[in-house]
Amino acid sequence: MFAVPDNTVAQAENPALRHPARVALSYATNRDSWRHLLRYDPSERFAALIERTEHDEIWLLSWLPGQHADLHDHGDTSGAFTVVSGRLTETVARLDAVSGQAAADGDQHELTGGQSRVFGPGYAHQVHNAGPDPAVSIHVYRYGSRTMRSYPLSR
Ligand SMILES: [Fe+2]
Repeated sequence: MFAVPDNTVAQAENPALRHPARVALSYATNRDSWRHLLRYDPSERFAALIERTEHDEIWLLSWLPGQHADLHDHGDTSGAFTVVSGRLTETVARLDAVSGQAAADGDQHELTGGQSRVFGPGYAHQVHNAGPDPAVSIHVYRYGSRTMRSYPLSR
């Protein structure tokens, strides 16, 4: 008889340790979990809550060509989003804690299917469908809801 060392025992996954980008990607590849919710709304960007778990809110968004999210942050919430189909352009801005304004710093990220971006407190961005086709994305908000605070651009 012998003892089994601790490091040979598989530990159950702690959902709190799953990175939001991994959560977003897993929903992005599991269309059966949201296909019944998907709509395209010509009047505004479409958003639907897929699921609320102990730690996360998972949202489905669709973007017709030209639809966008104005410059915003997500308050104290962290998270990630993953593009399912189409193409989204994210423009990142820096927040000035004193003035409360945001300055576009020119960082732009072109995202296609399967690509993700993460965000946290103090991270502001614009997201835009500049492509010719509709886009679909999955957004994960951790330890908070889908808070969106708008910012004026300082330039
Ligand atoms: Fe956002």
